[in-house]
Amino acid sequence: MDPALNPFKPGSGLRPPALEGRTRQREEFDLLVVRSKRRNYDRGMVLSGLRGVGKTTLLNNLAEHAERQGWLTIGIEARPNDSGIAAVRAKLGNELALSLRRFSRTHRLRKAMDELIALAKGFTLGVGLGPANVELRIDQPAASGDIDIDLEELVEAISAVMKKQGTAFGLFIDEMQDLDGDLLGALLAVQHRASQREWPFFLIGAGLPSLPSVLADTRSYAERQFSYSTIGPLSPTDAADALAIPVREHGGAFTTDALDILVEASGGYPYFLQEFGKAIWNIAASSTFDTDDAHLAVEDGRRALDGGFFPSRWTRATDRERRYMRALALTGESNPRSGRVAAEMGLTTTSVSDIRDSAIKKGLIWAPEHGRISFTVPGMADFIRRQSTE
Ligand SMILES: Nc1ncnc2c1ncn2[C@@H]1O[C@H](COP(=O)(O)OP(=O)(O)O)[C@@H](O)[C@H]1O
Ligand SMILES: [Mg+2]
Repeated sequence: MDPALNPFKPGSGLRPPALEGRTRQREEFDLLVVRSKRRNYDRGMVLSGLRGVGKTTLLNNLAEHAERQGWLTIGIEARPNDSGIAAVRAKLGNELALSLRRFSRTHRLRKAMDELIALAKGFTLGVGLGPANVELRIDQPAASGDIDIDLEELVEAISAVMKKQGTAFGLFIDEMQDLDGDLLGALLAVQHRASQREWPFFLIGAGLPSLPSVLADTRSYAERQFSYSTIGPLSPTDAADALAIPVREHGGAFTTDALDILVEASGGYPYFLQEFGKAIWNIAASSTFDTDDAHLAVEDGRRALDGGFFPSRWTRATDRERRYMRALALTGESNPRSGRVAAEMGLTTTSVSDIRDSAIKKGLIWAPEHGRISFTVPGMADFIRRQSTE
């Protein structure tokens, strides 16, 4: 088929041609939005799952929905190597000023918005200035330099305007597990305060499977503060639709067996589905995709994954972290005990605990339960085993 028309989109957060299998989360969020218009405020939402399951895509989808429904929305992505709180804080303030400006245009609320924009700018400028340096900022309101105070002040002011308008302020945070600890603590505290005081402020977060425990470790009340949802692979029916619907829209079709082969090989993982879909589209000579096409597409798709999706994590690891990951793969278990991984390396658990911790911090692996370890990337163990045998 014509590659120029290929609808499939393997890549981080790229809008898929058919967003399948997330009805529950989308309906739950829609209800939150509908209720917010009646000043009936629910908890925020947290989406967690492995890499490539479609968290970013879903988060973006929810944010767009909220924006269409008149919410003030901003989105930020945390990074593990962020140069600390200053960078994220600056990003937050700047994004907020932009959104407020957009909101001000669509809602014709010049005056109230100008005040909020000035407050958001002050928040950005408060970066790195401790309370002792407050006098450095003469022309900006607020910003004490204390993140908890500044954030609360900002959210309270914005919430007051949003509440009057019968709308809400949604802060969408991707890779939330990587958020600077101080900022995360401040955000959770403000969300907590917001629900007590009925401010229309909602945190919607997405991140790795470790995210719920990162939140609970940061603030004990975080457990009750959000509606948590695990984002997993798609069911076979949804996975089949994710492939078949876009093809059908272009007048093509799969044979049943061909579709089964791709669905099975993908394990229902959205990233893999996009990669296999892209491959079969480019390979197929006619508009009915058959089993020969499917087998070739699996081969081609795996090659593409081995050249991009997997190495993009692998190359981020240090030599020692790679040794640890190789040992984890060689155990052949999906979530072995840490001791078992150390033994595979011929070492003791304590002597490798620093590598383990740094690999966790980089989001390469995570601890599904105390003392156990697992990859954050589906299929990573197979990829590593393939590397070692070559
Ligand atoms: N529900 C879905 N149905 C079909 N494809 C999806 C779905 N969600 C995501 N995708 C596709 O999967 C890939 C990975 O999505 P992404 O949101 O980046 O995952 P994550 O953030 O969990 O790593 C992208 O190519 C995206 O288009
Ligand atoms: Mg993502």
